[in-house]
Amino acid sequence: MSLFKFTNNWFGAAAKGVWDQLIPQIKPEKILEIGSYEGASACYLIETLAKEQAIEIHCVDTWEGGIEHQAGGTAEADMSSVESRFYHNVRLATRHSSDRVELVVHKGYSDECLSRLIAEGKKGYFDFVYVDGSHQAPDVLCDAILGFKLLKIGGVIAFDDYIWSEDLPSGKDLLRCPKPAIDAFVNLNFRKLRILSAPLYQLYAQKLSD
Ligand SMILES: C[S@@+](CC[C@H](N)C(=O)[O-])C[C@H]1O[C@@H](n2cnc3c(N)ncnc32)[C@H](O)[C@@H]1O
Repeated sequence: MSLFKFTNNWFGAAAKGVWDQLIPQIKPEKILEIGSYEGASACYLIETLAKEQAIEIHCVDTWEGGIEHQAGGTAEADMSSVESRFYHNVRLATRHSSDRVELVVHKGYSDECLSRLIAEGKKGYFDFVYVDGSHQAPDVLCDAILGFKLLKIGGVIAFDDYIWSEDLPSGKDLLRCPKPAIDAFVNLNFRKLRILSAPLYQLYAQKLSD
């Protein structure tokens, strides 16, 4: 019986199938995750990688939720309970390999946390950047641009929810979904990256140059 406390299967439904193939191939040692929620994706990385190697994983989250998690949103959640479950889950994931896991939690807005990492000299530092924070297009564009600066050449940047949109009473809102931002980022950096083949729900790109 699993002792993890997860209240959804977002990670299992969207990412796990691709990560089962990709992560053992790229074996990232330094990981940046933007948007951790209850830690499902972080726990997968810890459990999969730290059996065999040391990893450093940075988790960035406000634990305030995106606008879809706030009162009246389409995925409303009590974010202080979500944050407690994150700590419970990552502790559980590291129980057999705590000496091989350096977990750095950055509680705050991703634009500020990523800018701080750049200011600390971590440009080109990470092997794998997972963008799964705010789903508002302007925020996603900022996470993409700063995350790409933090990614090393040869590293992989992954975007969750590429084709996700909210089912709002007023219909779809182009600014409340990641796709326009991811498309703009990919188009502007077309010469600096290579798109990796994967199911369309997520988008993966390898960095070729700065
Ligand atoms: C979809 S959830 C992440 C899911 C997680 N990766 C998983 O696999 O279970 C998005 C998270 O991003 C966080 N978030 C939203 N906007 C943010 C922002 N501007 N800066 C930092 N975190 C943000 C929310 O608090 C939420 O926990």
